[in-house]
Amino acid sequence: AIPDPEIQAVIDKDLHLEGPLLPILHGLQTTFGHIPDTAIALVAAALNITKAEVHGVMSFYHDFRQVPAGRHVLRICRAEACQAMGGKALADETLASLGLDWHGTTANGAVTIEPVYCLGLCACAPAAMVDDKVIGRVDKARMDTILQEAGA
Ligand code: FES
Repeated sequence: AIPDPEIQAVIDKDLHLEGPLLPILHGLQTTFGHIPDTAIALVAAALNITKAEVHGVMSFYHDFRQVPAGRHVLRICRAEACQAMGGKALADETLASLGLDWHGTTANGAVTIEPVYCLGLCACAPAAMVDDKVIGRVDKARMDTILQEAGA
């Protein structure tokens, strides 16, 4: 577990800001790769709000994670243009072959799978993204290669 003083130091850094909650959550996520459970109580105490409020904000913004991600993050586009071009089947197959649900991580810690809503690659649907690289026209074969390269 991450020691409380390390978490507190990240919180304190942005406490003076106006509307400090989001910057603090971003700071925690950037520093630790996720927002540890123990941080939620510390953030709530620092801002004089409830833990439920912190949870509420975290679940509204899908980028915050409560558990560390895998070594690679695979995002599959679930927005309309990609859905119309087989994106749903691709996502279903990929999840099934990994035995995961959205936001799940493979048992070997290699890949976390996340939904995303448009990657700006609609003309090359269906689209996906591995870490910070976008990939268009993803079919089953290409997805197999992506997963293999990521070590899933
Ligand atoms: Fe998938 Fe735009 S809808 S990239």
